[in-house]
Amino acid sequence: MSDVDEVKTRAAELRRLINFHNYRYYVLDAPEISDTEFDGLMRQLLHLEDEYPELTTPDSPTQRVGAPPVEAFGVVQHPRPLLSLSNAFSCEELLAWHRRISNWLGDVEFDVVCEPKIDGLAVALTYVDGLLITGATRGDGYRGENITRNLKTIKSIPLSVSLKEVPVRFEVRGEVYLPRAGFKKLNEERAKEGLPLFANPRNAAAGSVRQLDSVVTASRPLDIFIYGLGWAEGGAVPDSHWETMQWLKTLNFKVNPNIVLCHDINEVERYHQEWRDNRESWPYEVDGMVVKVNDVKMQQKLGSAAREPRWAIAYKFPAVQYTTRLSEIGINVGRTGSLNPYAILEPVWVGGVTISSAALHNEEDIKRKDIRVGDWVYLQRAGEVIPKIVGPVLSRRSGNEKVFSMKEKAWQRYKEKAGIGGEVQPPDHVVCPVCGAKAIKSEGEAMYRCTSAACPAQALERIKHFVSRSAMDIDGVGEKLCQSLFDAGLVKDIADFYSLTREQLLGLEGMADKSASNVLDSIRESKSRPLSRVIFALGILHVGKEYAELLADNFGGMGKLAEASEDELISIPSIGPKIAESVVAFFRQERNRHIIEKLRESGVKLEKEQAAPGESLLAGLVFVLTGKLDSFSRQQAEKEIREKGGKTSADVTRETSYLVVGTAPGSKLARARKLGISEITEAGLLQLLHRTG
Ligand code: IVH
Repeated sequence: MSDVDEVKTRAAELRRLINFHNYRYYVLDAPEISDTEFDGLMRQLLHLEDEYPELTTPDSPTQRVGAPPVEAFGVVQHPRPLLSLSNAFSCEELLAWHRRISNWLGDVEFDVVCEPKIDGLAVALTYVDGLLITGATRGDGYRGENITRNLKTIKSIPLSVSLKEVPVRFEVRGEVYLPRAGFKKLNEERAKEGLPLFANPRNAAAGSVRQLDSVVTASRPLDIFIYGLGWAEGGAVPDSHWETMQWLKTLNFKVNPNIVLCHDINEVERYHQEWRDNRESWPYEVDGMVVKVNDVKMQQKLGSAAREPRWAIAYKFPAVQYTTRLSEIGINVGRTGSLNPYAILEPVWVGGVTISSAALHNEEDIKRKDIRVGDWVYLQRAGEVIPKIVGPVLSRRSGNEKVFSMKEKAWQRYKEKAGIGGEVQPPDHVVCPVCGAKAIKSEGEAMYRCTSAACPAQALERIKHFVSRSAMDIDGVGEKLCQSLFDAGLVKDIADFYSLTREQLLGLEGMADKSASNVLDSIRESKSRPLSRVIFALGILHVGKEYAELLADNFGGMGKLAEASEDELISIPSIGPKIAESVVAFFRQERNRHIIEKLRESGVKLEKEQAAPGESLLAGLVFVLTGKLDSFSRQQAEKEIREKGGKTSADVTRETSYLVVGTAPGSKLARARKLGISEITEAGLLQLLHRTG
């Protein structure tokens, strides 16, 4: 054998080995060799091909590393159009589709295949004589962009397949996506480099695949799931979608492992629910499931209408991302003086409610996300959480958007409020938009805080917080009434609630006799709230509900807490210097001491009571709730658990004693099972709650 022959054989062997290990790593997620060993094989091959360039083959794994930029993408004509899918947004719509096609098919029984609908972008890969020759985007369905070089950088796409087993020419179709972890990492890197962030993994995947420089594409952790055969010539292919997918798997294509074959449409509904409830735990974004008629002949019989096949449908999950226009950025002053920017949005219907504003956290966050006034923005709602702004829709920027500056906006707001003329020089620091006092940002904090102890905005927010459900829970006193009482000068601080008279209340606009009685009853009733609630209701900076409980348990009374030193506070596990300092600072203020005295004089309970028998029945137990309960709302259930001495938490951890499982439980169930946490039903919880005698 000549030298060249030997090199040729060795190169072929290396290619085979690298392809095999690539497949194990990227498609099966089951590598057999270490990354270093793999790199060694790759280096050997690169070295051989460097020395003998004529030996480089188009399907060599070295071709994945990226090639120099191309001027622009060429156009690819799709021999068979890439259609889109019609949608079903409810079980009824899915059943209507099923009924319709059953009629078309003459009322025969048929199987369907269910697949996760991956949120990425569609591509078509053409193989000729076993070699990948073209990779294209969907484009308008008939003509797409030639992105072969870029797609070759995706390691789970085979550059060649075994010719013995495949038709001479065929096309597979699939969805290129960016896994959540890769998306997060990519955005973190971009944030560090000061580059604009991608709003979601789909946009990031699309942006990465359509890079003119495929070296950039190669640096992005893209992946693909093949979801079908486009067409095939010169060879037999399976006659059902299910078998096609199994066959593609044998050719080393990456097929989603969660695909299922269903004989009955009710099974589809079950999978839909399960996948929907666990969507957050998938390593990539899934926006629904695709339901496809399994039999290829039946598919052909059904054909397509307009631009959608009749034989498939996308059964969508409720949307999580929406877009709307951010018309202005306002600034709220919180009860601890924080200046909280918020977005004023053009109203948009998001999962059952109209949203017209959303929190924006702080100035740095706005800058980091590059959100500007006038931008179109992505709004995201995950689970039950309040929608948040993910980022701007860069493609809809007109150039007239304005960059937000806390200093400018806060000054402008204060000027308007105080009626200050335009000729006044703006100060060179951030001001409180309500009282005009200097606002500062402490070290390590992202928020500006108003430094005035007399700031009316803070006082009002403290009052609202005091009456709120999770604090003193004063029924019938909402934000509006707080505002009226504050404006009328009847409630200047939280203790003033307890000296309100019927006459004062009746003097307020719209206050009827009956409501005044209810309000007074609720205020009276709130005097016996547990100590932890009173501590929380004071609104001490950094002291949330859980810390308030900890402080109540450890000090047993407001008097002792007020005298506690920083050292004493820090000695309590999980109380750090930040909280200790804030508690001491709060009680050091004469005004606050005075308020506490007023509360005590009004008869507000400021000492912890010994738990009555039964109240401590659930002591030491931590409950987490998931799914819907029938006999009470989650909030009520949590309240009752706490009243019986138990604790509740939002997340399943090793400390969780019981997971209460309602109907349609969420991902907490899977987590609890992983950790081996006990599960109880709603009936079990009721028993626990009522066992108290
Ligand atoms: S089948 C004719 N299967 O969804 C059938 N599509 O809204 C065409 N998609 O353009 C598509 N996962 O990009 C199919 N398992 C899956 C899919 C899937 C994601 C995308 C695909 C398509 C879009 C239609």
